[in-house]
Amino acid sequence: MEASFWLSRWEQNKTGFHEAEVHEDLLKYGERWLSLASGGPKKDVLVPLCGKTKDLAHLAKLGHRVVGVELSAKAAQAAFDEAKLPFTQEQQGPYQVFKAQDLDLEVRVGNFFKLPAKPSFDAVWDRAAMVALDPDRRARYAEHLIQVLRPGGTLLVNVMDYPQAQMSGPPHAVSVVDLAGYYEKSFSIETLYEEDQIDREPKFRERGLDRFVVSTSLLRRV
Ligand SMILES: C[S@@+](CC[C@H](N)C(=O)[O-])C[C@H]1O[C@@H](n2cnc3c(N)ncnc32)[C@H](O)[C@@H]1O
Repeated sequence: MEASFWLSRWEQNKTGFHEAEVHEDLLKYGERWLSLASGGPKKDVLVPLCGKTKDLAHLAKLGHRVVGVELSAKAAQAAFDEAKLPFTQEQQGPYQVFKAQDLDLEVRVGNFFKLPAKPSFDAVWDRAAMVALDPDRRARYAEHLIQVLRPGGTLLVNVMDYPQAQMSGPPHAVSVVDLAGYYEKSFSIETLYEEDQIDREPKFRERGLDRFVVSTSLLRRV
């Protein structure tokens, strides 16, 4: 999707992907994902394509250094306002950076693909990030994540799979098998959760889907 697509979604408040609470799989599997990651107790955590997710503040409050990357300044501002976190703003290279005053949390507003391609993070939480990108950008996205991850780093990846012919994305369909295609050369992959959630997703049934399989996988760098 073009940047203009996402910016206009945010302008029109069409953010059905946003979860009202911290993601349940982050609560269930986050401790394991982080304990297996490189680094000391305080991890450098990246949340790519972060929107205004509550997961950002949750991770920072656990004591980690958290960086979100998001195209929309409106989303970044909402992430801080809704968590009642005072913040400052500064320009750093291609990014307008929103920084919490009292927590180790920043959201870099700009394009994910402009992140310097050097190992800077111990752990990545991809919730509905890979599935937000057009399929032809996925391989580049996965390569870029691998470049910014330190040796020994871990990914926690939440994706959705459905018959792509029944609906055009986003979210685009990404299965656990697709994930392996992008990551298995560099990571061991353990799928922690996989379930057809179509009965809980009336909006996707209305859009024509008969299956909507959500999965969360833990990837450890080999
Ligand atoms: C499906 S939403 C998921 C947001 C968030 N991960 C969540 O769980 O609520 C995808 C987000 O990625 C942002 N986005 C899309 N392409 C991007 C890019 N190239 N760089 C940074 N952000 C991007 C969009 O603005 C949107 O907020």
